Amino acid sequence: MTLPKQVRLVEMSPRDGLQNEPGSLIATDIKTELINRLAHCGLSHIESASFVSPKWVPQMADAAEVMASIQRQPGVRYAALTPNMKGFENALAAGVDEVAVFAAASESFSLKNINCSIADSLRRFQPVMEAAQEHNIPVRGYVSTVLGCPYEGDIAPQQVAYVASELANMGCHEISLGDTIGTGTPLKAKRMLEAVNTQVPTERLAAHFHDTYGQAIANLFAVLEEGIGVIDASVAGLGGCPYARGASGNVATEDVLYLLEGLGIHTGVNLEPLIATGEWISQQLERPNGSKAGQALAVPSGAANGQEV
Ligand code: HMG
Ligand code: MG
Repeated sequence: MTLPKQVRLVEMSPRDGLQNEPGSLIATDIKTELINRLAHCGLSHIESASFVSPKWVPQMADAAEVMASIQRQPGVRYAALTPNMKGFENALAAGVDEVAVFAAASESFSLKNINCSIADSLRRFQPVMEAAQEHNIPVRGYVSTVLGCPYEGDIAPQQVAYVASELANMGCHEISLGDTIGTGTPLKAKRMLEAVNTQVPTERLAAHFHDTYGQAIANLFAVLEEGIGVIDASVAGLGGCPYARGASGNVATEDVLYLLEGLGIHTGVNLEPLIATGEWISQQLERPNGSKAGQALAVPSGAANGQEV
């Protein structure tokens, strides 16, 4: 078994974590404080916002204000989703360091999520890729529903490989493979990765696993064994996808970090302030902390509340 010596964690909570939060709109200053706290934990890549239609995803409507209010730390990459040119132009004006386009391996999910077919989505990304290149902005690509679709069920690994290779060929520096509804299991994850690897090298892939069925940590271990070195995660396990009913949050960053520390894998992220951040945001949102490690290691009630960053 060969495991990577180090892993880059890509923090999802300000975007994937908050985009689906039910109830009233989350205040901009809570979002910016979350991002600032995450940067202080040592996270070097934070997906901070989403420049999508506010009618589709109201919680991300203040993306520009969020980007304008964060205290930028050197060495931290503040990224955002941009599904089309309008999103890219707004993200550029807001000063994001990296943008991401997002496609799906399932036609039905593509239609529900971004209102177009897979082929149309790839065509729509082309001008975004060109504009990003012109402005020297790296582009990440997502493939959703890589281990199952809420509308179509099982997805053929070859279909995932096809969409991943299209994104890689159009210039995405990294392809993040999303188990959007968390139905994957370790062997399925390995088989999917094997298929993708025939088209895109492991060094350009990231694992983006939601934890709906409690399989995300097992699935991550499985793909770490295959050499995956980039993992997307969300503090306190926040989140879900508005277009995938029942999908819960990303795997919790605290749980992933606890796993990686146990395996002796370096990340540059500090567990203690991360636990405090997970507690803090859970209290702000008045929801239980979705991280097992977070629950086990949290300081007794209230103490995380007044923590300065
Ligand atoms: P559409 O309705 O087909 O687009 O939406 P349109 O071009 O016809 O425009 C319709 C209206 O939206 C117009 O406004 C546009 O100006 C506006 P109106 O004239 O009606 O007032 N509009 C925009 N406004 C702001 N920013 C924009 C933008 N684009 C159009 N960028 C669109 C197409 C893609 C925009 C829409 O479907 C959308 O915004 N979808 C959001 C999907 C989304 O954010 N999903 C969640 C993120 S993906 C995810 O969570 C999965 C992931 O985590 C991986 C995984 O877990 O699998 C990444
Ligand atoms: Mg996601």
